[in-house]
Amino acid sequence: MLSPESSFDEPLSHKTPMLGLKLWVVIGLVVVFSIVLILAFLTSMYIMIQNRKRLRKDVMISEKYKLPILHVPHVSKEIKVVGDQEMNVKGSKSSGRFLDPLVLFSGRRLKKNSYDNESRISIEKSNTVSSSFISSVDLHSPLMALPDQFSHLEWGHWFTLRELQLATNFFSDDHIIGDGGYGIVYKGDLINGTQVAIKKLHNHLGQAEKEFRVEVDAIGHVRHKNLVRLLGFCIEGTQRMLIYEYVKNGNLEQWLHGQKCSLGILDWEKRMKILLGTAKALAYLHEAIEPKVVHRDIKSSNILIDDDFNAKVSDFGLAKLLGSENTHITTRVMGTFGYVAPEYAKTGLLNEKSDIYSFGVVLLETITGRDPVDYGRAAHEINLVEWLKTMIGSKRSEEVIDPRFEIRPSTKALKRALLAALRCLDPDYTKRPKMSQVVQMMESDDDQMTSRNDRSRAHSKNTNNAHKVTNEAPRIEHAGRRKSASSRK
Ligand SMILES: Nc1ncnc2c1ncn2[C@@H]1O[C@H](COP(=O)(O)OP(=O)(O)OP(=O)(O)O)[C@@H](O)[C@H]1O
Ligand SMILES: [Mg+2]
Repeated sequence: MLSPESSFDEPLSHKTPMLGLKLWVVIGLVVVFSIVLILAFLTSMYIMIQNRKRLRKDVMISEKYKLPILHVPHVSKEIKVVGDQEMNVKGSKSSGRFLDPLVLFSGRRLKKNSYDNESRISIEKSNTVSSSFISSVDLHSPLMALPDQFSHLEWGHWFTLRELQLATNFFSDDHIIGDGGYGIVYKGDLINGTQVAIKKLHNHLGQAEKEFRVEVDAIGHVRHKNLVRLLGFCIEGTQRMLIYEYVKNGNLEQWLHGQKCSLGILDWEKRMKILLGTAKALAYLHEAIEPKVVHRDIKSSNILIDDDFNAKVSDFGLAKLLGSENTHITTRVMGTFGYVAPEYAKTGLLNEKSDIYSFGVVLLETITGRDPVDYGRAAHEINLVEWLKTMIGSKRSEEVIDPRFEIRPSTKALKRALLAALRCLDPDYTKRPKMSQVVQMMESDDDQMTSRNDRSRAHSKNTNNAHKVTNEAPRIEHAGRRKSASSRK
């Protein structure tokens, strides 16, 4: 006699036409398959709803600011997204925990009687974000009209990763401007229409993060027309980014040796304008603010150029603050080969005089159109500084000028620039001039000379004598010889 179980099992144990599988196996497979299908359907519905939500938000932002939607970005799983309550530091909601240590400032002050009245600096001695920070953003600020989700700091903005992804089409390759020692630089278009340069620092480098903190603290408040302005930063998860004003016209290296040469050779006046602006920016960093800032990586690629050929010194990533009580600090040797002061390279001894040496190298590079170190040249010409000293020593200073100039500068202008460069390059750093003195040397152009000369004539009984004094050409002290203005070309 059959048991009830065996009578129930029997039909299930029958073989089906499907590959000869038993009925219960087929039923099991159908059930599993259905569950998988339902799960897949539910997952895709969920993803679709999330995407729609995101798209709707982007459309709202784009409509508000009348901008096209670039894409619908996805936040990487590797990135820890900072919660809203943390991101919103607007007004009195700011918390010390969130701000420290990036926006707790060291009380930088503008020195009294600063010689440079071109500086526009907004410095407050403050340990918290001001509740009236909005009023500190001037009407012409590139940060105006950014949406509420941007966190306004006292001097700039804390950008979200998402905004920067939108600005760079998800950091796509066609937004890359260049790749330097500390990260990739992207061009970004903010939703208020402002163009920015975003320096995305290499991840997982303690050094990069440290530089980031130093840079944010050092230059967030510092403003000068010849310094690239830092607009803000972004920290999310492992991401560290600096957001700068976008400087359109390339950098000095590109104009002297690179891609910009195809647009024409920079004339003498433009070159000197760029170098004078650079000298003013350095004088400001060294002498006008307290504590002073040593740049530590002055080189032609760090001198950006705007549409009017004004210099905009970039990259304070290597900057260290120097308290006024310190004359120099010892640190690991940084900077770039060819521009580094001898004492700095040998000992790591650093003070603002090493910036002055590097400036001297850039000045020579600009006068001659040669690279600071060029292995493509004959052995005695590889090192620009050594070659130049030899040339001047053998009374051939006229020959060092960039041969590509269509109109050569006057002999006087050339000698003035060479003299300034040589003084900056003094091997004894204590003898190098201050940057403000370099500015003075470079500013005494021919026009000023002429008007001073005219005044002298008017007030002097002995006009011939006055003319002789004011037209006297500068001496090139290192070459140990003196040239008169009569040799002017
Ligand atoms: N604010 C900016 N506006 C426009 N272009 C910029 C800006 N900042 C940097 N760049 C450009 O991005 C490129 C990469 O710059 P980056 O500073 O990373 O490299 P670098 O100057 O060659 O080397 P280093 O890292 O030693 O400074 C350069 O061509 C530079 O001119
Ligand atoms: Mg740079």
